[in-house]
Amino acid sequence: MNSLHSDALVFFGITGDLAYKKIFPSLHAMVKHGSLNVPVIGVAKSGWSLGQLRARARESIEKHGGLDVAAFDTLSGLLHYVDGDYNDAATFHALRKELGAAQRPVHYLAIPPALFGTVVEQLVKAGCTNGARLILEKPFGRDLSSAQALNHILLKTFAEEAIFRIDHYLGKRPVHNMVFFRFTNALLEPFWNRNHVESIQITMAENFGVQGRGAFYDHIGTIRDVVQNHLFQILTNLAMEPPVRTDSESMRDEKVKVLKAIPPIEATNLVRGQYRGYRAEAGVARNSQVETFAALRLEVNSWRWQGVPFYIRAGKSLPVTCTEILVRLRRPPTVFSTCDPQRNYFRFRISPDITGAFGLTVNDPEDKMAGQQIELLASRHPGAEQADAYERLLDDAMEGDATLFARQDYVEEAWRIIDPVLKATTPVYEYEPSTWGPIELDQRVVPPGGWQNPVVTS
Ligand code: BG6
Repeated sequence: MNSLHSDALVFFGITGDLAYKKIFPSLHAMVKHGSLNVPVIGVAKSGWSLGQLRARARESIEKHGGLDVAAFDTLSGLLHYVDGDYNDAATFHALRKELGAAQRPVHYLAIPPALFGTVVEQLVKAGCTNGARLILEKPFGRDLSSAQALNHILLKTFAEEAIFRIDHYLGKRPVHNMVFFRFTNALLEPFWNRNHVESIQITMAENFGVQGRGAFYDHIGTIRDVVQNHLFQILTNLAMEPPVRTDSESMRDEKVKVLKAIPPIEATNLVRGQYRGYRAEAGVARNSQVETFAALRLEVNSWRWQGVPFYIRAGKSLPVTCTEILVRLRRPPTVFSTCDPQRNYFRFRISPDITGAFGLTVNDPEDKMAGQQIELLASRHPGAEQADAYERLLDDAMEGDATLFARQDYVEEAWRIIDPVLKATTPVYEYEPSTWGPIELDQRVVPPGGWQNPVVTS
C-alpha cells in the first residue's frame, strides 16, 4: 500500500446523478469525520458556476441524510469548479491551474467509459498525472475485449496500484463481513465445501424499476449492471480460500483464484426476463431486448467447490428489495421414519437488514415424531450502515489502499465468464411487475429445492 495521502480530489462528472445521490453526501460525511481537508475540484460541461455547484451540493446533502452546517461550510470552502469539454485542452489547463500546488491528486472518472481514454490523454498533456491516482466508476467496459482495451489505455499512464476500479458493493460492511465471519469462526469451515454443501443461491431483488435511468439501463441490462460486478464480488467472498495475509494483494489474489475456476456460463444456464412496462420507460427502446432480470447457474471448479452449483438471480420490479445468500447443505440420512429431514442451511442477508442465520430442524413441541424448521440467529442488525459505502471507498482510494477495489485481472476474469452469454442471443421473457421473474424460470434454471424467495418483514 502506498501510504501517501492524495492532496486533491478531482471529480469528473460532478453535475451528474452519482455525485448528487452518493458523492456529495459522502464528502460531507468525510468532512464531518475529519478525513477530508483537501481541495475538491468538480469538472463537467454544464455551464455552471461555483455558486451553482455549491447549491447543488447543499440540496443533495439535505436530501440524502441531512446537513451539518459546520461540515457543509468546510466542504463548500473546499469546492472548486472547472467547466468545459473533455475534448478541449483548455479544460485541462484550467484544471491544472486549480490544482495549484497539489502533488498527488486523485482523479475520479464518473463519466461514460467511452470518454476514459480521452480524459486520461488530456490529463497527461496538461501535466495532471504525476503522482496521481485514478478512480473509475463502473461499468468497467461492456465485455471482455472492451475491458482489456480500457485497461491497456489506462495502464500506459497509470500503474495498476494507482488505479481504483469502484464496485460499491465492496464498500458495504456486510459484504466485507462475509469474509470476516467465515474466517474468524471455526464453526463454518468444516461444512463449507463440496462434501457438505449441496447448492448456493444468491438473490439480489429490487422492488423498483429503472427509476428514470432508462437510457443508461437500456445499454446495460442486469447482467452487466449488477451480476458481473456486485454479485460476483459476493460469490468470490463466499467461495474464496482464507488469504495468507490481509494486505490488498493477498486478498485480491484469492478472489481472482475463484473466478479463474469458473468456466464460461452456458446459454442454457441463463434465463433473462423483462418486466412488463419496461419498454414504456423514458429512454428505453420500444422493442428493447435488454433484460431487467437474470438468473443463472455456474460452477466453481476448485478443489473445494467442484460439483456444487451456484445460482445467481437479480432483477428489478420484483416483490421485495433484498440481497440474500443461501448456502444449502446436503440432506442428512433418515433415522426417524416419521420425519423426512430437511436441508440445513446458512443464510447471509446483506440488505435490508444484516443477518446471519443457521436453518435447523428440531423436534416439534406438539408432536414428538415430527420435525420443525427453526432458524438459529447468529446476528441481526438493522440495515442502516454507519458509513456509506462511497465514503469508505473514497477514504481508501485517497489513502492508496486498493483492497476494496477490483484489480485488472479480476475484472477481465469476470468478463470472461459472462462474455459468451452476452454475445449469445438468448430470449428475454416478460414478467409481471412485483413477481419473482418470468414463469419460464421454473422450467430452466432451478436450484435443488427451488428458489428461496427472501421474506422482508419490515
Ligand atoms: C448499482 C446499479 O450499481 O447498484 C443499480 O447500477 C442498483 O441498478 C444498485 O440499483 C444497487 O445498489 P444498492 O447499494 O442500492 O444495493
